[in-house]
Amino acid sequence: MREGARDSSLKNFKNFSSKRGGPKIRPAKKEELDALLSLEETCFKEETFHKKQLRYLLSKAKSIVQVAEIDGNIIGSMIILLRNHISNARIYSLNVHPEYRRAGIASLLMDTALEYLKEQGFKNITLEVGVNNKAAQNLYRSKGFFVDKTLYKYYKNGDDALHLVRKL
Ligand SMILES: CC(C)(COP(=O)(O)OP(=O)(O)OC[C@H]1O[C@@H](n2cnc3c(N)ncnc32)[C@H](O)[C@@H]1OP(=O)(O)O)[C@@H](O)C(=O)NCCC(=O)NCCS
Repeated sequence: MREGARDSSLKNFKNFSSKRGGPKIRPAKKEELDALLSLEETCFKEETFHKKQLRYLLSKAKSIVQVAEIDGNIIGSMIILLRNHISNARIYSLNVHPEYRRAGIASLLMDTALEYLKEQGFKNITLEVGVNNKAAQNLYRSKGFFVDKTLYKYYKNGDDALHLVRKL
């Protein structure tokens, strides 16, 4: 997974009305490509998906794009890549808009994914997280992931990543 931005612009979300109601977790629609791209650009400082990549992920049979929606706006997303033949799923991307963090939204996206993947018979989930991304590491630890190995110079900027695994 990419490294998360620590300081993000709110340019695309400044007109949010309120935080009324809980988030709805649901599959993304193909026509939500631009909303997903905006969220990406807000949450990741570099290595953001290009439009073409994201469009491909939205239409690919072996990937799942889930969103968290509040008041009709997409404020979180998770992308999962499936590998049926080895019963392994990889969390490829997870982000929550800065204005909605620490409200349990990533936790909810993760719980929804874990439940679904278990039901589907997947045995392992893997992901990569930046060594400096303590927020995400805390989240994954709280969900039962453990460090499998370090991936040196995994990111374009030379930062290392941790490869995490969770059994289902
Ligand atoms: C990481 C991220 C997805 C967390 O989203 P979130 O909705 O704020 O997370 P939650 O509210 O569900 O937090 C669940 C747990 O994660 C940990 N956590 C989340 N944010 C944290 C922070 N800023 N500092 C420390 N721990 C944090 C905590 O253990 C938290 O539980 P708690 O609130 O009961 O203490 C979000 O910060 C984000 O989008 N960051 C930028 C993109 C990114 O780094 N993605 C992950 C790439 S691997």
